[in-house]
Order: sequence, then structure tokens, then C-alpha cells
Amino acid sequence: MTAVAEKPVEKLNAKEAASELQRLAAEIAHHDERYHGEDAPEISDADYDKLRLRNEAIEARFPDLVRDDSPSRRVGSTPQARFGKIRHRVPMLSLGNGFSEEDVREYLGRIRRFLNLGEETEVAVTAEPKIDGLSLSLRYEKGRLAQGATRGDGAEGENVTANVRMVKDIPNHISAKDFPEVFEVRGEIYMTHKDFARINEKQIQAGQKVYANPRNVAAGSLRQLDPAITASRPLHFFAYGWGEVAKLPGATQWDVIQAFKRWGFPVNPLMKLCRSADELLSHYHGIEAERANLGYDIDGVVYKVNRLDWQERLGFVSRAPRWGLAHKFTAEKAMTILEDIDIQVGRTGAMTPVARLKPVTVGGVVVSNATLHNEDEIGRKDIRIGDTVIVQRAGDVIPQILGFVPEKRPKGAKAYKFPDKCPVCGSHAVREVNEKTGKVDAVRRCTGGLICAAQRAERLKHFVSRNAFDIDGMGDKVIEEFLSLDLIASPPDIFTLEKRKVPIDELEGWGETSARNLFDAINARRTIALDRFIYALGIPHIGETNARLLARAYGSAEALRDAMRLAARGKEEEAHQELMSHDGIGPIVAEAIVDFFAEPHNVEVFDKLLSHVTATPLEAVRQSPVSGKTVVFTGALERMTREEAKAMAERLGAKVAGSVSKKTDLLVAGPGAGSKLKDAQKHGVEVIDENEWFNRVGA
Ligand code: IVH
Repeated sequence: MTAVAEKPVEKLNAKEAASELQRLAAEIAHHDERYHGEDAPEISDADYDKLRLRNEAIEARFPDLVRDDSPSRRVGSTPQARFGKIRHRVPMLSLGNGFSEEDVREYLGRIRRFLNLGEETEVAVTAEPKIDGLSLSLRYEKGRLAQGATRGDGAEGENVTANVRMVKDIPNHISAKDFPEVFEVRGEIYMTHKDFARINEKQIQAGQKVYANPRNVAAGSLRQLDPAITASRPLHFFAYGWGEVAKLPGATQWDVIQAFKRWGFPVNPLMKLCRSADELLSHYHGIEAERANLGYDIDGVVYKVNRLDWQERLGFVSRAPRWGLAHKFTAEKAMTILEDIDIQVGRTGAMTPVARLKPVTVGGVVVSNATLHNEDEIGRKDIRIGDTVIVQRAGDVIPQILGFVPEKRPKGAKAYKFPDKCPVCGSHAVREVNEKTGKVDAVRRCTGGLICAAQRAERLKHFVSRNAFDIDGMGDKVIEEFLSLDLIASPPDIFTLEKRKVPIDELEGWGETSARNLFDAINARRTIALDRFIYALGIPHIGETNARLLARAYGSAEALRDAMRLAARGKEEEAHQELMSHDGIGPIVAEAIVDFFAEPHNVEVFDKLLSHVTATPLEAVRQSPVSGKTVVFTGALERMTREEAKAMAERLGAKVAGSVSKKTDLLVAGPGAGSKLKDAQKHGVEVIDENEWFNRVGA
């Protein structure tokens, strides 16, 4: 940083001020782009606010030097090109920031002066959480959602109408009689901490990058070009303002928000009408204290003058209304001692290190745990047990460890060694190599999938799922219930429920018939095709295709087990070489399956399962008119299900693909076939109907 950049604002001369304003404009524009345009901020919100504050302070001292491209005249960033643009009929502006009690008193003082109010006149102000999400304008015409737009640069935003329709919190149609002809509701889209964690867990599982915070996922989800992706992301909405309106349903901020509620928009329950600075500050501290329990990110409290006629008179200064203030929380840091590092095992076996801290208050909240992300992160930061560490609670409420204080490191503190055994079940834990990038995964995973208590629920759900054991009546809820009652712990237990005389019919919601049906459904699966059996084990990378491949290659469950035990002895073993010789089995798949059988706990469960279940070899592949051909099925099939069709084609030696390309030999099209039919015509692929398919294969 240059010397000028560090000089207090009061000490700058005009020349220095001009150069500082230029530097700050460029720097803030850069961070705006990272934050709004790319959803990937480089600096903390607190540091960003510092830049803006410095810019504002210099402009206040040197009003003549305010630049045309000053950040105080801009909000957000320019819209992304790939979405259509929508010009906001009423601009979407921003709020001025306050950080201290003094700023709040000054805000109220300014309002009084501007409106020329005497001491005796009460100024009522609403106070509500400032949601750390992304603002959205929803235009309703005749009660129907007509348009959804992001803020963009405040004047023009992105047209995200199709995506907004997928958000459950946002009504598509409003039938209330008093809903005006035209009404633009504005508010914030956000994601809860729970959903954020779940999405990151999925990202890890898929070997994809993890997101930094819920705001970035919410923004990314809303800006999906494919609305189906938005639909799969759990987004929420709070309504707190409006744009163009034919008529307002009240004369105060408070009354309009009550109308929002009646009309079916979610509004924040923590909004309060306050009548003095003291009342505002007390509500601010109340919200700050609740911050960690809200389940979503907030970064301050927003104050708004309640009377709308006053709001009108107060108007705007450059980018922000005089009637509003964002009272921000400050990012706080504290020092404490790292007492231990615990390993948590997630539902997919991912092992996450968690710092156990000597409890310390950071930003009004007692912090005793912090995430350390993963094995490499601990190494990178060289954090050791016993260290004095710096903890931060910033925009998000999940505390983070920024680093350690070298002078305070106890003598003899050893570098942390990440365990290579699962702390829950004792199975060995491995780091996989990512198939696509060839890089070692950041996450270490427990391999004891079938027996690890941390992974039980997910594994069991997979085990009974439709393409695995397909046990009717054993849905996710039943699995969760049986697990919580200790009726089952691993797959073989499902097959002993009846023998153990577990009185299922006495459980709540069950009766004699439903219990009998469940036992019958279980018994119906005591004989099962070998490929389903292998797939049901839930071994990483062993999906249905690889399971079928292994089933064909090894013929029986026992043969597979024995070969894999041999292969585990080393890559030079004949069994290992044979495994790798199968078309379609690469090093990653091979490692995953060998790892599974190298874990004695897994073999134990595997064998136990075989004492209750018979896995039947697959039918041999027949030579047929479609052997070696690539086939695609599309449209409605009437004589068989899509899965049956696939299995049949594969039995006959054909390869089944999901989309039509040059390489496709045959398209079997039923009624309603669409784009695939067009593709087939384009590539000159032969098209037949279902009956012709049966004729050809002689079935
Ligand atoms: S009112 C004229 N209320 O904060 C601007 N904004 O810094 C009126 N925000 O762009 C905005 N929670 O994205 C308002 N309860 C709330 C808010 C809120 C979050 C965001 C919004 C706005 C930014 C202003």
C-alpha cells in the first residue's frame, strides 16, 4: 500500500485526495465486480465497507473532487450479458451504512432537521434484519407474476423471471381483492445455513468446488440459465420494499409490510416499530444476539422512517434514501486457545476437522468451535493443538480460524497429523484421486460405508432404493425410524427383522397388514440379480453400469469378493491386473472397489448378507441382430418400461445411450418423441417403433 493510502483523511491535501479517490474508485469497482458479477468476493465485507467509508469521508471533505465514476454514485455491477435485461421503472438503490450508536443518533437527527420537526414530534422508525442475500424485484400485473429482475447496476437488472417462478416462497398468482393492478414487490433472496451445508456436502461428493457462503450459492442458483437447476436449489425470499405500484395498501412502512403478509409474501418476523434511538439500538442488539440462531445470514439491521409521506419528502442523496440506514454488524476477531481438533464424519464418510476452542466471545456470541475445512487447510495454516489462534465471525456466522500467533506457540507443539482411520467406526480412511482433474481429493473419507454409524442412514436408503434392492414400503422415513429405534444398523439386519420377531405392527403408524406387507416385500428380495446386489453396496464409483460390468466379469458374489481380496495385495497381483483389464474399469474404479474389500468390516457385512440373500448371475449376453449396436430409446414405450428396455437391449449385446449422436445405430421411438427424433433425422440414424424392435430382436 502507498503512504497516501494510509494517511488519515483529515491529513490529505487536495492532490492526494484526488489520487486517493481515483484509486478507491478503481479498487471498489473491482470488488463490486467480484462480488456482484462473479459471486466470488476477494475481501471481507468489513474491509470492503472500510474502502467505501474512506471514499465517502474524502468526498465529504473535498466535495469538488467527487468523480463521475465515484462508487457513491453507483450500486452493484452491470448486468451479465447472457440474461436479458430489464430496466427498473423505479431504480433499485442502496442504503447508507452506519456502524456505531453515534451514526444512528446522527441519522435520526438528520431526519428531524430535514423535516424541521420539533422535539415533541415522535419519529417512528421500523427496524428489521438486513438479509445477506441478493435483492430482487418482482413485478405483478393483474395479480400474476409478470417479471422478476435482479438489481444489476440499480438502473438495469437481469431478467430472471423463469427462475423466480421456481422459488416456492414467491407466489405466482395473488388473488387478494385489494391487490393493485400493478405492483412491484422487492426483497431479498437467500439460502438457509442448513441448505447451504447440504449443497456443499453434495459438491464435495461430486468432487466439485465448495461455495464460500450461502449468499454466493443463492446468487449462483438464481442466475442459472436452466430454471430446472434453480428449482432444485432451495431458495427463500423476504419481501421488504416495493418499486412501481398502482396504489399503496397503507400510509406507513409497517402497514404496507402487513399487507405483504396478507397477500402471501414471506416477511421477516423480527421487524419492529421503534419510537426512539434507544429503542432502535436495543432492537439492534437483540437481533445481534439472535444472529447465530436465525439459520440464515444477516449483516446488520435496516432502519426505515415509518411514515411514507415523510419518506417521500426525505427523498434520496445520490445512491441512498435519506429515510433509511443500514446499521451494519462489525466483523469481530478474538484470540483464544485451540484445545483440540476433532474429526466429524459426514453422511457420505467425508471427514471434517473441527477446532475445539477455549470459549471466547466474538461479536456478542460465545464461540467454542470453528471449522478447519480439511486436512490441507490445517497444513497450509500450520495450526497446531495448543496454539493461540485468531477467530473471526464475519458476514457468515460460521466462525473461522484466520491463523495462529507465533510468539505464543507452546514449546514442542507438533504439526497436526490427520487420522487415517475413521473415528466413528475404525475403518481406514482414504483420499481419492479426482477422475476428471487427476488431483488428490481435499477430503479424506471413511471406507466403512456399510458399518459406519455416521453413514448408516444414507447407505441403507441407497440399499433399499428402486434400482438396488427395491424393497417396497421401506422408504427414507422408515429407514430413519428403524435406525433411531435400533431395529437395524446395517443391511443384513433388514433380512432378520422377521426372524427376530421385531414387533413392527406395534410401532406408531403401523398395523398388522402393513407389517406383513413389509416382511413380504423383504422376502421377495431374498433372491436378487448379482448386478443389483453389487450396486446396492453403495461403493463409491460403482453405479449401475459398473455393477453390471463386475457382475458379468466375476459371475458370482463370492468370486468377486475373493478376487478383490487378492487384488488388494498389490497392483502387481494377477487379480489386480485382471480387474484393470476389463473394458470400462479404470484405476479410480478399481481402487474404490479394492478399498471396499480391503476393509474387513465390509467383508463381514458382505458375507452376512450372503447368508440371507442369493445373488443370481446375469444371463449371458446373447448374439442378436443388435449385438454391438448403440441404441437409444425415446418417447413413450407401451410394452415395456424404459428400464426393462435398457436391460433387454443390454442382454442382447447392445449398448444403450442417453442421447442421439453420429455414433447411434438405432433410435427406438414411441409416441411423443421430440428432440431425439430430430437429432436422429439430422444424423441419418435409423428410426423404428417399439413393435419393430420386438420383431427385430425376435422377442
Ligand atoms: S431496503 C432504497 N431492507 O441491502 C433501498 N434492503 O445496502 C431499500 N437488504 O440493496 C433497501 N435486507 O439488497 C432493505 N430489510 C432490508 C434489507 C435490504 C437486505 C439489502 C438490499 C439492498 C441493500 C442495501
